[in-house]
Amino acid sequence: MNNNQKYTRITTHTLEEMKRNGEKIAMLTAYDYSFAKLLDSSNIDILLVGDSASNVMAGHETTLPITLDEMIYHAKSVVRGSKRCLVVVDLPFGSYQGNSKKALESSVRIMKESGAHAVKLEGGSEVEESVKRIIDSGVPVMGHLGLTPQSIYKFGTYTVRAKEVQEIKKLKEDVIKLKNAGCFAIVLEKIPAKLAKEITDSVDIPIIGIGAGLNVDGQVLVMHDMLGINSDFNPRFLRRYSDLSNIVHNAVSNYINDVKKMQFPNKDEEYN
Ligand code: KIV
Repeated sequence: MNNNQKYTRITTHTLEEMKRNGEKIAMLTAYDYSFAKLLDSSNIDILLVGDSASNVMAGHETTLPITLDEMIYHAKSVVRGSKRCLVVVDLPFGSYQGNSKKALESSVRIMKESGAHAVKLEGGSEVEESVKRIIDSGVPVMGHLGLTPQSIYKFGTYTVRAKEVQEIKKLKEDVIKLKNAGCFAIVLEKIPAKLAKEITDSVDIPIIGIGAGLNVDGQVLVMHDMLGINSDFNPRFLRRYSDLSNIVHNAVSNYINDVKKMQFPNKDEEYN
């Protein structure tokens, strides 16, 4: 039985079952209808409407500028393009930090206006109260620890996290706090593989890695990076599965050439 036959719509419970059965979870980001449709029909398990939209869709240097309204716009398009996968939406910077009432309001807006199935937020003990409040309202929450890009100006770099004793201790405590608060899964970004394995083995909720090695419950990548649309981002953890930037450049050069040389359209491509 392949994935497609087994699950009609992936839910948070399906993911727990996948962890129990040792079946790995494949997650990618998506921001628009057409790509969501392509990825969903390829049987991706989770589509994340990531705040990386701020970088790859809007061209900002960080994830901080994207707004809740913009995230909802992207989420609506992804939901319309997907039938099978679980759709998770990032709470953007400024829509939840330091205020659990605001966190709940932002989550409710995402769920009501986009039709998505869950939200994701960054941080551990700092957001524990918000996580509980959102989950109490019935909205599933995915956590995100390790490298948390919304805090880039606090940390100063995008280097590997949790290498020092204090940071490792805090990370482990945060995982337990998020799990006990009710998170259905946690993304661990850019941490040592050994630590990611230890954490994965210690909890019964799925741990999804990005730059966290092989021994986690699933992997996530930014779609633009793994398809090679974004060719100037080259971290060690990234595997490129295509070279779309070259494919698009070649197609567009051929089109321009045909237009300039009056080789497009031909007789078959015109109306009588
Ligand atoms: O916004 C995003 O794309 C993410 C992934 C890197 C996990 O949070």
